Formats: sequence, structure tokens, C-alpha cells
Amino acid sequence: MISSIGLDIVEVARIERDIKQYGDRFVSRILSRAELAAFDKRVDAAIFLAGRFAAKEAVIKALDRYFEDRPAFNVIEIINDAGGKPELRLPQEIQDRMGQAHCLLSITHEKNYAAAVAVFEEGQ
Ligand SMILES: CC(C)(COP(=O)(O)OP(=O)(O)OC[C@H]1O[C@@H](n2cnc3c(N)ncnc32)[C@H](O)[C@@H]1OP(=O)(O)O)[C@@H](O)C(=O)NCCC(=O)NCCS
Repeated sequence: MISSIGLDIVEVARIERDIKQYGDRFVSRILSRAELAAFDKRVDAAIFLAGRFAAKEAVIKALDRYFEDRPAFNVIEIINDAGGKPELRLPQEIQDRMGQAHCLLSITHEKNYAAAVAVFEEGQ
């Protein structure tokens, strides 16, 4: 059963401005250590970061159904599997509070915009 959904869109130019203005401090506030390693390898780094930003906003919107407090962006981790599919990893203490709920995540990006949707499912 679908229990919650979140959707977000991000302008890539806004992320480029923030990277230029705040540098690593901004990037490390958004990305986990494992995501930073992926970011460093990407030629489309700003687009990648815009996608992660949109995905994390989407996850936070969907998590709102479960929590009053918002987790920090950099503890929400999104890792691509071997086929490129993004998978959400939440800290154990958040996952424990969510019971059996699991997240389906989809990210898309073009030159100017990135968008993502997060869907939490419970049970079968
Ligand atoms: C997956 C696919 C549909 C992405 O479409 P696209 O228009 O090129 O790219 P989009 O901007 O819409 O989406 C990119 C995002 O899709 C997601 N994605 C990539 N592969 C995916 C997959 N297999 N399943 C689900 N999502 C996937 C990623 O989150 C990626 O963004 P990120 O790398 O920054 O995390 C496209 O690459 C495709 O058709 N792949 C077919 C399988 C394939 O060719 N695999 C290559 C391995 S050799």
C-alpha cells in the first residue's frame, strides 16, 4: 500500500550559483560522504547535485507523513545501483522508526532542471 509521496523540481542554475558562492561547504551540507565520492567523478556535477537535491526534498516531503522533524540533507543518502537506479539509504534510527515502509525513488535531469519523486510503500 502506498503511504506517502513527495515530488520536487530544482533549477540547475540555482545549484550552480550556490556551488560557486559557497563551494564545498554547500556541497557537503547536501551530500553524504559516499555521494560526495560520486559527485567528484561526475562531469555533470551541478546537474547531478540538482538531481540529488530534488530527490532529497522529495524524500523529506514523503517522510513528513512519519516525522515532525526534518532530517538533514546529508544524512539522506541516495546511491545508484549497478544499473544506475537510485536507491535510498536512511540512517538506522530513522529506518527503525519507519517500520516496514520502504521508498521507491525516481530522478530525472535535463540541462536546466532536475526533478524527483519519492513514494513510500508499506506491507506487500
Ligand atoms: C535509465 C534511463 C531511462 C535514464 O534516462 P535519461 O533520459 O538518460 O536520464 P534522466 O535524466 O531521465 O535520468 C537520469 C537518472 O535516472 C536514474 N537512473 C539511471 N539508471 C536507472 C535505472 N536503470 N532505473 C531507474 N533509474 C535509473 C538515475 O537516478 C539518473 O540520475 P543520477 O545518475 O544523477 O542519479 C536510460 O539511461 C536508459 O534507458 N537506460 C536503459 C538501460 C541502459 O542503457 N543502461 C546503461 C547501462 S550500460
